[in-house]
Amino acid sequence: MAGSPVATVVPPLAQSVQEMSMNGNEPPPQYFLKENSIQPMDSFLPSDPIPIIDISLLSSSSSLSSKGGEEEELQKLKSALTSWGCFQAVGHGISSSFLDKVREVGKQFFALPVEEKQKYSRATDGIEGYGNEPILSENQVLDWSYRLLLRLQPVDQRKLQLWPENPNEFREVLDEYGTKVKIIMDVLFKAMAMSLNLEENSFSSQFGERAVMQTRFNFYLSCPRPDLVLGFKPHSDGSGITVLLQNKEVEGLQVFKDDKWFRVPVIPHALVVNLGDQMQIMSNGIFKSAIHRVVSNSERMRISVAMFNEPEPDKEIGPVDGLIDEKRPRLYRNVKNYAYFNFECFLKGLVPLESAKI
Ligand code: OGA
Ligand code: NI
Repeated sequence: MAGSPVATVVPPLAQSVQEMSMNGNEPPPQYFLKENSIQPMDSFLPSDPIPIIDISLLSSSSSLSSKGGEEEELQKLKSALTSWGCFQAVGHGISSSFLDKVREVGKQFFALPVEEKQKYSRATDGIEGYGNEPILSENQVLDWSYRLLLRLQPVDQRKLQLWPENPNEFREVLDEYGTKVKIIMDVLFKAMAMSLNLEENSFSSQFGERAVMQTRFNFYLSCPRPDLVLGFKPHSDGSGITVLLQNKEVEGLQVFKDDKWFRVPVIPHALVVNLGDQMQIMSNGIFKSAIHRVVSNSERMRISVAMFNEPEPDKEIGPVDGLIDEKRPRLYRNVKNYAYFNFECFLKGLVPLESAKI
């Protein structure tokens, strides 16, 4: 993100997650959760279903092949986003074989020798590239994972030197996947606006000509202490929206709702859609930015691919006028460059969505 200083202020740990995972070593305390341990998943996580939404029913432009049911699906969308802040999207038009290909190139990259992956390493003061999460403070509880973060849009901001050339299809597949996900996101922005009886471009127009699209390949290695260590700590995404492709076999993602963690079951052909903080702001708090985490697994590794869409950093965003009235006064002030704002809040130990409140 332009102007997002990310400095690694803490020296790297003696052993990498990869080494510890391969050797079956106990994770060091920097990885332990502070508050409490993680109970065995099934004992406390009701498998209440995360809503499933058929995107093909949402798009009014698909009325050529109108299947009907648009109004009903819009209501489902609204209800999913006001209560969960996330849902599983089916009918999105991306073939299962292409989704497999996206998973496969990620897996192949991750399976490369460390030296090969390190050609694409994140710079100590950067956010893009391959590596562990940036370590910003001594107290940070560390995630048992690696990431590969890349910016896809604006296209002239791509740092191609960080885009893997091995496997050789990687760049092409990522580029194509980005284009396909963008189409889905555009349908969703319109549908979200329509579900709230707004003009269909009420959200999309806030993203600007040079909206940002980034991807993060997450690699979760097996971890000998899934009771103490998370793959990804609880967070909400700073994005507008996030589209997440889950691993086909290994579950791990959980969403927080009503003071409980809910599993997000694997549906191989579905995409998980998470609403991000910036859409919570634009919707004046009507839609929820989902708090989510990833638990670790003692036996199996897991890969996921997240696509984040964010407004142009220099553009101010704020609650849509049509969502502010006497009954629901303006909840948030206008903000810009949310990635930077998020980062500053993190350093100060503040919750960005709270700090953005009026
Ligand atoms: C993320 C994220 C979840 C997952 O990348 O922001 O929440 O299942 N990923 O990997
Ligand atoms: Ni996330």
